[in-house]
Amino acid sequence: MTERFPLAVLASGRGSNLQALIDAQRAGTLPIDIVLVAGDKQQALALRRAEEAGIPTLALDPKTYPDRAAFDTDLFTRVAAYRPRLIVLAGFMRILNAAVLAPWAGRIINIHPSLLPKYRGLHTHRRALEAGDAVHGSSVHYVTAELDGGPMIAQVQMPILPGDTDETLAERLLPHEHRLLVAVLAHIAAARIALHGTDVSLDGRVLSSPLRLREDGVLAA
Ligand code: GAR
Repeated sequence: MTERFPLAVLASGRGSNLQALIDAQRAGTLPIDIVLVAGDKQQALALRRAEEAGIPTLALDPKTYPDRAAFDTDLFTRVAAYRPRLIVLAGFMRILNAAVLAPWAGRIINIHPSLLPKYRGLHTHRRALEAGDAVHGSSVHYVTAELDGGPMIAQVQMPILPGDTDETLAERLLPHEHRLLVAVLAHIAAARIALHGTDVSLDGRVLSSPLRLREDGVLAA
């Protein structure tokens, strides 16, 4: 059997992106091993999904730490003990400090529900509607201390339709997000995507713009 790529997932909420990874792992279409699912909310559905799948979980309560830095340090120390090669932020709704991120440069990614650099932060669907955008989407990027600002890996796009609300947009985007995250992880596990400084490469060639997930599931430059 080929070796599976060990990764940890951090999640704060519903965990549908985590579920997409679990499903792909189970189906044998993604050669990953989710070694830990950790979060900042004991009640998060993401943690229940992990338990159901037999994946170790960890929930830390930020309120029990003296400050943000202490929480971040403890979280990342514990995550590192599971020896993941990559950390995936899948709906992890906290900003992390530069010191804990530094040792993970190039080994931590985030999925965000907008076509970055548009709409960093919250309420991305509503903001896309209010701006009158014709197209919406989701981005996967390497994480730096700058909120939703690290080097871009890949995006998926979809049209905004007449009558769309922020709920319908979020709902329609979600399956695209799942496909995007799975596709990016397949490439990272195969060592096809990497970060060099601030440059992202595919098969050794530096990208001048984010990869685009096509309808057929191919990540195209
Ligand atoms: C996803 O839409 C993801 O892009 C977003 O949270 C949702 C998590 O859904 N992430 C962010 O907004 C991070 N800035 P899930 O819990 O069902 O995977």
